[in-house]
Amino acid sequence: MKTSFRDIYCGEVSDRFIGKELKLCGWIKRVRDLGGMIFFDLKDREGYIQCFVEKANTKVYNIVKDIRMEDCVWIKGMVRERKDKNPNIKTGNVEIEVFEIKLFNRSSELPFLVEDDINVFEETRLKYRFLDLKRPLMQNNIILKHRFVQIVRDNLNKKGFIEVETPYLSKSTPEGARDFLVPSRLAPGKFYALPQSPQLYKQILMVSGFDRYYQFARCFRDEDLRKDRQPEFTQLDIEMSFVEEEDVFQMIEELFEDIFNRLFMKTLNCPFPRLTYFTSLNKYGSDKPDLRVNWEIKDFTNLLKDKGIKIFEGCEAILSLEIDVDITRKKVEELNEFVKSQGGKGVTYVKYTDSLSGPLSRFISADYLKKGNVYLFVADKKEKAIFILGRLREKCIKLLEPELKEDFSFVWITEFPLYVWDEEEKRWEPAHHPFTMPRNPGDIDKSPREVIGRQYDLVLNGVEIGSGSIRNHDPELQRKILKKMGYSDEDIEKRFGFFLSALSYGAPPHGGIALGLDRIIVTLLGLGSIRDVIPFPKTAKGYALFEGAPSEVGKEQLKDLKLELKNEND
Ligand code: AMO
Repeated sequence: MKTSFRDIYCGEVSDRFIGKELKLCGWIKRVRDLGGMIFFDLKDREGYIQCFVEKANTKVYNIVKDIRMEDCVWIKGMVRERKDKNPNIKTGNVEIEVFEIKLFNRSSELPFLVEDDINVFEETRLKYRFLDLKRPLMQNNIILKHRFVQIVRDNLNKKGFIEVETPYLSKSTPEGARDFLVPSRLAPGKFYALPQSPQLYKQILMVSGFDRYYQFARCFRDEDLRKDRQPEFTQLDIEMSFVEEEDVFQMIEELFEDIFNRLFMKTLNCPFPRLTYFTSLNKYGSDKPDLRVNWEIKDFTNLLKDKGIKIFEGCEAILSLEIDVDITRKKVEELNEFVKSQGGKGVTYVKYTDSLSGPLSRFISADYLKKGNVYLFVADKKEKAIFILGRLREKCIKLLEPELKEDFSFVWITEFPLYVWDEEEKRWEPAHHPFTMPRNPGDIDKSPREVIGRQYDLVLNGVEIGSGSIRNHDPELQRKILKKMGYSDEDIEKRFGFFLSALSYGAPPHGGIALGLDRIIVTLLGLGSIRDVIPFPKTAKGYALFEGAPSEVGKEQLKDLKLELKNEND
């Protein structure tokens, strides 16, 4: 990109500039001093170019002699054809003979090399994030995210969606996590909540007749962080009026078709498969199954329960994960330890190669098994055995590295229960949030365990990348659901009165979805950590290591807010 300082990016210098003089800006990648001549690579966002300076050019040579990696410079020079061409880089046919150089700024000594394959603690990378973000891999991640966002905007705009912003200083919406609170100076003793999602605002926008809304919304959730969670993350938040599930599915499938086409030049298989929550759980032990492998759970309870197998005694269910890859005894041992770490009793197996082998082989006939497959057995209470086999399935995919059917496997999970039992709080909680419509509105008077909600999740390669539902647009039904969840009339008025009031002014039927942007990018790139696609992420303990947040505040600031800090032990 031409500016007052430069003609093009370093990574754009090519054969067509041979014999031409160019001005370039960038950072020093590496320097090789050959005595009579110094070579250095000059880099920027788009790549790097080899440069050289002859000793005869004393003025420039003396500056270049002292330059170090990551110094920021300006050069002017002639593009020459390279004798030793390097086909591995974009600019490998050419090099630049430097005539003039200007040092803009020096770099301090580097805590690590600004390259892709480095072995550095993540804390160090986060502390020097400005250097970490210069590594080509990190630049690619952030730029891919940018391109993804542009394609989404383009696609949704063409489909008549309107991008609307909603407040960050807001009122608590229950999404299942704790709120981050912001004290109000003007209303001492009162607090804003940072939104866990724009859920209520987007529904209100439907009441207001916007019909189709989207937003890249920052969401804030004070929860224990896992590898795919951050306290602040970005959702592609979407809501539509006058829709059913199929309308939402089709719109999202078309969006991903467009993204895959334009980002990776790949065609996606649409429509995505659909599984109900209970089918998914029984078949794969998970509501976010990785369908890049076919492995399913099979029920062997009737076949094996009265065979006098000691380890299965007294167990309600004997279930097995059928896998189509071989496994060594050592790996079964590793899986056994894993199952125990998940609260299970252990795992045993039968293998069907030419004949049957493994501890269970004398109890089972080959008629029930498929040649070439291995059966990993877990026995327990049914629900627990399913849960454990689900975790075992995930573990086996990582441990056994099976051949995958495809690189990307999407699936919709539908018909979630409306409520889940919260063992800690001893009450029924919404499986999603309280605004999901029950499959049959009349079901709301039944026992909570029987009510199915119109919720759906989108899963990609075993990762929940999005979640949404068809909403309640009837204020009375909404009030009933909130009551069922244990809110008193007074609570409902206080927390949701504004929302119920909006619903009572001709709210249209509506539904939507929110996709976790950071999670999608991590999954598309096959990366291990969500932090690698967020420029300035928090650590697992919620710290921003580079800028040092959270941090103490001054007494004056607290005084303005009429807040006083108590001693932690008080
Ligand atoms: P939900 O809470 O399921 O739904 O969030 C939607 C999607 O956001 C992503 N996500 C996260 N990503 C990173 N860090 C986190 N802490 C985190 N939490 C969630 C996930 C998830 O699928 N308002 C509803 C959506 C709706 O009903 O339209 C909601 O927020 O990919």
